[in-house]
Amino acid sequence: MNFSSDNASGAAPEILEAIRAANNGTARAYGEDVWTARLEKEMARVFACDVWVYPVLTGTAANALALAAVVPQYGAIFCHEGAHIATEECGAPEFFTGGARLVTLASRDGKLSPGQIERALAQFEKGSVHHAQPAAVSITQASDFGTCYRPEEIGAISSLAHSHGMKLHMDGARLANAIAFLGCTPAEATWRTGVDVLSYGATKNGAMGAEAIVFFNEEHARDFGYRRKKAGQLASKMRYVSVQLVCAFEEDRWLRWANHANALARQLAMRLATVEGVEIAWPVEANAVFAFLTDALIDRLHARGVSFYEWNAGSDGRRLVRLMTSFATPEDDIKRLIEAASG
Ligand SMILES: Cc1ncc(COP(=O)(O)O)c(C=O)c1O
Repeated sequence: MNFSSDNASGAAPEILEAIRAANNGTARAYGEDVWTARLEKEMARVFACDVWVYPVLTGTAANALALAAVVPQYGAIFCHEGAHIATEECGAPEFFTGGARLVTLASRDGKLSPGQIERALAQFEKGSVHHAQPAAVSITQASDFGTCYRPEEIGAISSLAHSHGMKLHMDGARLANAIAFLGCTPAEATWRTGVDVLSYGATKNGAMGAEAIVFFNEEHARDFGYRRKKAGQLASKMRYVSVQLVCAFEEDRWLRWANHANALARQLAMRLATVEGVEIAWPVEANAVFAFLTDALIDRLHARGVSFYEWNAGSDGRRLVRLMTSFATPEDDIKRLIEAASG
C-alpha cells in the first residue's frame, strides 16, 4: 500500500491510449504540432478566457520559469515556508529568476494570508537599492499541506499583491484537486480572482509527465518561448507532452480523477480518526491526509508494508505523517490500511 505520494501512481489508461494514438506518423517538432495547438484551445475552453500555454516536463521547471517571466533578478517572492518552490526545488526559482529572493512565511494550515504578506512587505523599502524589491506572491493550490484557498482568499491576496505592483503566481500542481473540492469554475480559481500566471500540473493526476505554464495575459508571455528553450524545456517531440494535457481536460477527466483522489482521502481521514493514537492534523480538503501518529502506530504501519512520509512536526515533538491518495488509489487500500492501523 503506497500512500507516499500521488507521484507514486502510474499513468491513467486513457493517457496511455492518447499517447499511443498520437504516435501515428510524423508531426511537426518543437511544439508546432496539432496536439499543442489543440491544448491551447482546450485550456481556453476550460478556463473560459484566452490563455498562452507552454508545456514543460516538470513542475519545478513550470514554477521556476513562470516566476522568472514575471520577477526581475532583484525581486522578492513571498511564499509559504512549506512551499515546494522553497523546499523541494534545489534553488531553481532563484536560479532561473537570476537570483530573486524567496521570502518564506509561516502558517499552520499551509496558506498565506494578506495580513502576513503585508507585515512582511513592511520590511522591504520600496525604491531602496539595498532591498530586494517585492515582485510576486506565490501560492500553492491545493497547498502543500492539502488545504485549499477559497476564491475570495485568492482575490484578497491578489488585490494586495497588485496594489503593491506585484504579480500573483499559482503553483497548481494539484489545482484539479482544489477545484474538485471547491466546486468553483477554473476561471474563479485563477484569473478571475487575480492569478497572473499558473503552473498547471497534470503529472500527479493521471498523466505520465506533463505540466504547463499558463499565462492569462499576453504581455507576460512575451519572449517566454526563448526562456523555455534556454532552460532545456522545449521538448522536440512535444506532441507526447501536449496530448496528455489535452486528454486530461477532455471529457473533464482531470476533475473525475481528482474527485476520486479527494473522496478517498476524506474516507481515509474519517476512518483513521477513529483509530487509537491518531489525531488528524487539519481538515482534509484535497488528496492529502496529515495526521499525528504515535510511535507504535507508525512502526506497525511500516511493518505491514504501508508507505508514507513523515513530516516535520514542529516543536512539540509529536510525529506528523502525510498520507496521499491519487486518481488510481484502490478503495480497498483504505480498508487494508485501517485494518493494519487497528492491529
Ligand atoms: C506543490 C508542488 N509543486 C510542484 C511539484 C512538481 O515538482 P516536480 O515535477 O519537479 O517534481 C510538486 C511535486 O511534488 C509539488 O508537490
